[in-house]
Amino acid sequence: KLKPIVDSLGRPLRDLRISVTDRCNFRCRYCMPEELFGSGFSFLPKEKLLTFEEIVRLAHIFTELGVSKIRITGGEPLLRQGIVHLIEMLADIKPLQDLAMTTNGVLLTKFAAPLKQAGLKRINVSLDTLRDDTFHRLNSRNYSVRDVLQGIEAAQKAGLSVKVNMVVIKGVNDTEIVEVARYFRERELVVRFIEFMDVGNSNGWNADQVISKQEIISRIHAEMPLEAINPAYFGEVATRYRYQGTETEVGMIPSITQPFCSSCTRLRLSSDGFLYTCLFATEGFNLRDFMRQGADDEKLRRFIEKLWAKRADRYSEERFLTGDGKNRKKIEMSYIGG
Ligand code: GTP
Ligand code: 5AD
Ligand code: SF4
Ligand code: SF4
Repeated sequence: KLKPIVDSLGRPLRDLRISVTDRCNFRCRYCMPEELFGSGFSFLPKEKLLTFEEIVRLAHIFTELGVSKIRITGGEPLLRQGIVHLIEMLADIKPLQDLAMTTNGVLLTKFAAPLKQAGLKRINVSLDTLRDDTFHRLNSRNYSVRDVLQGIEAAQKAGLSVKVNMVVIKGVNDTEIVEVARYFRERELVVRFIEFMDVGNSNGWNADQVISKQEIISRIHAEMPLEAINPAYFGEVATRYRYQGTETEVGMIPSITQPFCSSCTRLRLSSDGFLYTCLFATEGFNLRDFMRQGADDEKLRRFIEKLWAKRADRYSEERFLTGDGKNRKKIEMSYIGG
């Protein structure tokens, strides 16, 4: 085993987020607005996608370099053909401690049990509201809240550990924070409230639409008192709380008001095999062609080591300093998976 590598700001490489498709069956306003991702949009053609063999080969190399957690993302990862088989292949990588997925949940009624069987450990489900009118306004598709709740239930039944993600947007769903908190508290499920972020250039982000972690906490705390608890692991993006007198947790992901770049241990691999050192990156490195042109494992490893050693990204800490967020060309959420 090689010694762990650290970047130019002293951060170790620990997790890899792998996007397996840029397609999605939702059109969330804050991610893939229908006007920009309609029938005219060209998604990645199949030959550009990494094959499962290529993904697994890279995953092996990353674990040798210190990655102990892999999260599968999309678009919507459950739309990728053969996804259960990919999970099975990844679950075989021995040094890996955590294998998780982030999904919109509607396909979980079909996939939860097979995914668990294949070796998936955890699942994070995005759900921004419990009301169908808000839901439709947000994701512009013909699904209902029920479909997601049934997906969550299927995941729990299958024995996966489940968390719910709610992106909070002022004027869209912020009046529903307490309602969502209460609903999942009663069911002893962890919800994380996420500050709306300026990912990509399509989502019309505006600082005025952000509800801060402090605000979210105080609204919940007023109804159901909270107490802070310690992070579950180094570099966890969520700050964790517990409802007083219970074991039920709730989290906040404050990328805008309390950036967590100083402990960011994440690399991201897009479905077409580009490697990104930050969620807000402009450019990635084409590992796919490097690999397809015949680079051996040693060459790939050395390349990744060098890339990580140079890494200096800390966008969320700089966003209001440089003020270039709006002009800078950033990769899209649907392409890189959050
Ligand atoms: P756990 O492994 O359960 O802690 O999940 P996670 O929070 O790492 O992943 P998830 O996909 O559930 O992401 C939750 C939210 O955190 C999403 O809005 C992500 O975009 C955001 N997020 C995850 N990693 C980063 C990051 O490195 N930087 C920023 N700014 N946001 C991130
Ligand atoms: N800001 C914050 N979170 C976002 N997500 C998607 N777009 C944004 C955004 N602009 C969330 C999704 C999912 C996770 C991967 O990221 O809802 O839970
Ligand atoms: Fe919505 Fe996630 Fe699909 Fe984006 S990838 S449109 S956030 S469900
Ligand atoms: Fe990491 Fe970039 Fe997110 Fe900061 S903004 S936590 S460096 S991915």
